[in-house]
Amino acid sequence: MTDDLQQYLVPQEPYYRAVDDEVSLFEAAYAAKMPVMLKGPTGCGKTRFVEYMAWKLGKPLVTVACNEDMTASDLVGRYLLDADGTRWQDGPLTFAARHGAICYLDEIVEARQDTTVVIHPLTDNRRVLPLEKKGELLRAHEDFHLVISYNPGYQSLMKDLKQSTKQRFGALDFSYPKHGVEVEIVAHEAGVDSAAADKLVSIAERARNLKGHGLDEGISTRMLIHAGSLMARGIAAPAACEMALVSPITDDPDMRDALDAAVGTYF
Ligand SMILES: Nc1ncnc2c1ncn2[C@@H]1O[C@H](COP(=O)(O)OP(=O)(O)O)[C@@H](O)[C@H]1O
Ligand SMILES: [Mg+2]
Repeated sequence: MTDDLQQYLVPQEPYYRAVDDEVSLFEAAYAAKMPVMLKGPTGCGKTRFVEYMAWKLGKPLVTVACNEDMTASDLVGRYLLDADGTRWQDGPLTFAARHGAICYLDEIVEARQDTTVVIHPLTDNRRVLPLEKKGELLRAHEDFHLVISYNPGYQSLMKDLKQSTKQRFGALDFSYPKHGVEVEIVAHEAGVDSAAADKLVSIAERARNLKGHGLDEGISTRMLIHAGSLMARGIAAPAACEMALVSPITDDPDMRDALDAAVGTYF
């Protein structure tokens, strides 16, 4: 493996608490060369899962945070000007396809649809990537695998994946883990005891019921870990919850009261 590629290996086993049979499903999809879509709200373990799978499979992981200013060239590559003239530089997608890495396109819906279509020829049987500007038809490496993440909650007509894109993937649904599992995760990641983690998860469960009734998105596992991390550093629970759970997700005074009440029930 070249140094270029080596730097994308995940060095240590990431802590990942499996919630269902997602590990074996992903392994089978990888073996079958089936691209994978991770669906679910923000902060529920999608990125951690893909890091863990890359480590488990021993494959390099190239991650791209998608955004609306991203162009197809940002993914595929472009000619750069330097002292010796022009030089082609592979974009992250091309790099992963050429050398056999897992390419993770995080929050794919943020990218414009004309950008998204460049992945199509890589996701069917051909597994090729046409580099039009370079005049090269790149055949993907055996080990190349494409993973995308997608938050259906943000879905709008303007910002949804085309059916022609979606149908190329096998999908794994992520949501907030079951109570006991989430307690374990929060305790492990934040360094709080399970009694405190249990209360944090209970607050989140109440808040998640408010989703759609004034809250766009529930309190995520990530936010609970933030609150727990403050508590583990000596911050009193109510202040930690205010900073990490309540303030970040709403500006609405009534909603804040509702969330404060949920916090007050447990702390
Ligand atoms: N199943 C899990 N096992 C271990 N840690 C998890 C799990 N789910 C969530 N986490 C924790 O929550 C944090 C946020 O998860 P992340 O993977 O970044 O979310 P997403 O990519 O879905 O937005 C992670 O950094 C990790 O600490
Ligand atoms: Mg993520």
